[in-house]
Amino acid sequence: MTSATVPTPADLTITPRDRRFAGGAAAHRLWHGGRVEATAIYNALSATFPRGEAFFVESVRAFRDGASPKLAEEIKAFTTQEVIHSREHLAFNRRAADAGYDLTRLEQRVGERLAVTKSKPPIVSLAATMALEHFTAILAHQLLAEPRHLEGADSEAAALWRWHACEEIEHKGVAFDTWLHATRAWPRYKRWKVKAKVMLFITRNFLVDRTAGALELMRQDGVVGLRAWARLLWYLWAKPAMFRKIAGAWFRFFLPGFHPWNEDDRALLHAYEASLPRDAAVPARQVRRARAG
Ligand SMILES: [Fe+2]
Ligand SMILES: [Fe+2]
Repeated sequence: MTSATVPTPADLTITPRDRRFAGGAAAHRLWHGGRVEATAIYNALSATFPRGEAFFVESVRAFRDGASPKLAEEIKAFTTQEVIHSREHLAFNRRAADAGYDLTRLEQRVGERLAVTKSKPPIVSLAATMALEHFTAILAHQLLAEPRHLEGADSEAAALWRWHACEEIEHKGVAFDTWLHATRAWPRYKRWKVKAKVMLFITRNFLVDRTAGALELMRQDGVVGLRAWARLLWYLWAKPAMFRKIAGAWFRFFLPGFHPWNEDDRALLHAYEASLPRDAAVPARQVRRARAG
């Protein structure tokens, strides 16, 4: 850790919110405002979560030995959150399939990418998880900060995405702190070099795979060729421009002294909690915790 780094806030509590979302893709195929490209990119993201988040959990837990009691507790809460996210995205993906989408090719791609990473030493999986968790955290920040991203979306589907975004922000430091713990004996430059290389590799794959995945789903809606590319690229990079808007936060990952909590965005979590109807707030004690063993 460098002197510029702001660590995970001491008073942060990671609270799994065991919520279930019934609507969304089941209600209608083009759940995101009737827009083919908007529905496609969110469905493409959702297709990656069940396998992807199981991989994150596995990768982080492989390095929990010797962690401080605070980090060990955070890893448990992170695990519980990710397991519940996988459950809800599995259900969401099933509803997308019921609505007529075939996600098989997208899921296969995730499996192939994970197989390559898993064939390398476990520290590479942890580094990949840390990089992807930064991605999810900055996407989540953007999603909660600018309501226009979910404008026109089915309300239950939007609730699922906001809930997931909230918890991604809340646990954004866990994979990173586990990485700091796992590489504590490494020289600073080696740590930065591996982190940067893995992030560049992950970014390339993320952009290529999510774009290809969204184009595949758009094809299933009959939108193909240049028209599909133009609509998707406009949506991601021009308006509402999710990918363009996370570029600055993505870049900060490479700065010396980076830590996810250098930006304390808990105000977004408080605003999210305050926006919930009373019966949606889940007390922590009702949540079944993931097994520690
Ligand atoms: Fe998640
Ligand atoms: Fe996560």
